[in-house]
Amino acid sequence: MLLARSVREVREMLRGLPHPFGLVPTMGALHAGHLRLVERAVTECPTVVGTIFVNPLQFGPNEDFARYPRAFEADLRAFEAAGVALVFAPDVPQMYPAGFATAIDPGPLAAVFEGALRPDHFRGVATVCTKLFSIVGAERAFFGEKDAQQVAVLRHVIADLNLPVELGVVPTVREDDGLALSSRNIYLSPQERAAAPGLYRALREIANAVGAGARDRGLLERARRHLAAPLREAYLDVVDPATFAPLAHLAAPCIAIGSVYASAVRLIDNIPIHAAAERAA
Ligand code: PAF
Repeated sequence: MLLARSVREVREMLRGLPHPFGLVPTMGALHAGHLRLVERAVTECPTVVGTIFVNPLQFGPNEDFARYPRAFEADLRAFEAAGVALVFAPDVPQMYPAGFATAIDPGPLAAVFEGALRPDHFRGVATVCTKLFSIVGAERAFFGEKDAQQVAVLRHVIADLNLPVELGVVPTVREDDGLALSSRNIYLSPQERAAAPGLYRALREIANAVGAGARDRGLLERARRHLAAPLREAYLDVVDPATFAPLAHLAAPCIAIGSVYASAVRLIDNIPIHAAAERAA
């Protein structure tokens, strides 16, 4: 497996390798959810590039940029075992050299839910992903369904800017009790870890009810009982998958989305609810 630290090295090392190039962008601290992205990329692309870059642009001033988990050597081993051909692991000045001034503003979709709680987060995600698409020349890029709003934002950016990259969206990987895998789960205390699957249970209850024909927002209220202390709700809603506008009438296709605080961390999760015809297909 090749390791590139600079944009120049990435381009030199990729020259002559077979297309399509598949990109798996990560911030490292890899878990089984990331490796599922690589697994999928490897089946679709003869050359898979993994990136490891904790992107300061997507963290707010009071967020966990400095203490975001870093596990570089273990990440390299995991990427190599999964079949990645090249890892791009730049430092901050490589991605944002002195004088860097351009950013992608993804518009209103980036201002609700995650965007409301993390102003400028999606601006940072859109900017770094656009740079990574361009540096690697990726024809496909793979993201987890767990970050549903991130995927919706990137779809928008790709369409608006006519970027020649196709998104591969990979279903969320969960623990046996339903908790979605996340690099931040290691920060949960034992009590919080025991309560955390309540978020999945709330979303599951909503998705099952909407799938069975319920249309009334009152079912959100009932599902909230799963988000009891030590969890604290950040949001729980059913939204349009493209705009993330909350639905008054809960009809598929839609996404049940939720987020909870558990002292030091905030967890997010979602369940896409497909229309009956799609479900049957
Ligand atoms: O989902 C993530 O880990 C990050 O937002 C990403 C896509 C790697 C961009 O920094």
